[in-house]
Amino acid sequence: MKIAILGAGGRLGAALMRKYRERFDVVGFNHAQLDLSNFDELHKKLRATSFDLLINAAAFTNVDLCETKRDEAFLINAEAPRVLAEICRDKRARLIHFSTDYVFEGGKREPYVESDSANPISVYGESKLAGEQNVLAVQDRHLIVRVSWIFGPDRRSFIDGMIKRAQENEEVDAVADKFSAPTYTDDIAEMLVVTAIGDGTQPGVTDPGYNAASDYDGILHFTSAGECSWQEYAQWALDCCQEIGLLLKGKTVGARKLKDMTNWVARRPVYSVLSSAKYAKLTGRSPRTWREAVADYIRRFYSKK
Ligand SMILES: NC(=O)c1ccc[n+]([C@@H]2O[C@H](COP(=O)([O-])OP(=O)(O)OC[C@H]3O[C@@H](n4cnc5c(N)ncnc54)[C@H](OP(=O)(O)O)[C@@H]3O)[C@@H](O)[C@H]2O)c1
Repeated sequence: MKIAILGAGGRLGAALMRKYRERFDVVGFNHAQLDLSNFDELHKKLRATSFDLLINAAAFTNVDLCETKRDEAFLINAEAPRVLAEICRDKRARLIHFSTDYVFEGGKREPYVESDSANPISVYGESKLAGEQNVLAVQDRHLIVRVSWIFGPDRRSFIDGMIKRAQENEEVDAVADKFSAPTYTDDIAEMLVVTAIGDGTQPGVTDPGYNAASDYDGILHFTSAGECSWQEYAQWALDCCQEIGLLLKGKTVGARKLKDMTNWVARRPVYSVLSSAKYAKLTGRSPRTWREAVADYIRRFYSKK
C-alpha cells in the first residue's frame, strides 16, 4: 500500500505522517511542496507520484477568514478536492478526504449521523460540504471522513491554548453553550487504518470489494465517544494537568456565552456532535471517550513540561 498525504504540515496531516511512516510506504506534501490552489501543479506532481491511496488533510481551515475570502475557500475546500478525486480515479487510486462537523447547522440535540442533511451556516462549512459532494460525484469509492475539535502534538489547538492561559493567568474561561467531542489525531489515524487502509492482514472494512462494505456509502464520522462544551473540555484538560503535577495559576474554567464571542466573524453551530454509531457498526469497535483521549494526550505530551 503506497500512501500520499496532502497537508503533511498540518495538525492532522503531520499526525498521519508520524503514525504511518513506520507501517506503510508514505510520501507527504506540505503547503510549500504542493499548493492545492494550483491545479496544474496538482496534476503534474500527483501524476508523477506513485500511490494507491491519497489522503487529503489540507484545507483552508480558518473559519473566520473564509467569510471574507469566499472564492479562496471554495477553490481550496471544494474545487481542489474535485481535481484530486479525478486524478485518483484516473490513477485507479482511492481518495480519502477530510471534512467537518461544520457542514451541520447545529440545531439537533443528539449526535449527527452521516445521513442527516447538511445545512452549513458559514462559508467554511459551505465550502467543505461542496468539497464532499464534488469528491463523491467523481467516484463513490472515495471516502469522506468528517471530524470535529481535533487535537494532537503536531500543531497547537484549543486545548494547548487553554493550558497556556491557565499557566499564565488565574482567571480562564471558555464557551459553555457550544457542544461537540474533542478527538485525538492519533485516534483518527488508527480509525483510518481499521476502516480504509487495513492492517496488512486484512483490508479496511470500507475497501471496495470487502464484504462488510454493504453499510458503507462514502461518508464516515470519526469522533471520540461522549460530548461536552468547550468549558467542560478545558476544565478536564486542567484537571488532567493538575493530576500530573503541572503548575497552573488558573484551576477553574469560567463560563462564557457563545453570543458574547463578538470577535468571531463566522457563525458556528451550537451543537455539532458527530455520531460514531456507523463506525462502530462497520468495525465492531467503539472509540474511546473524549476524556480518556484528552487524559492520554496530556500524560504523554505535558508530563515533562
Ligand atoms: N481542527 C479541527 O478541529 C477540525 C475540525 C473539523 C474538521 N477539520 C478538518 O480536518 C482537516 C485537517 O485539519 P487540521 O486541523 O489538520 O488543519 P490545519 O492544521 O490548519 O492543517 C491544514 C493544512 O492545510 C494546509 N493548506 C492550507 N491551504 C493550502 C493550500 N492552498 N495548499 C496546500 N496546503 C494548504 C495548511 O498549510 P499552512 O498552515 O502552511 O497554510 C495546513 O498545513 C481539514 O480538512 C479540516 O477541515 C478540522
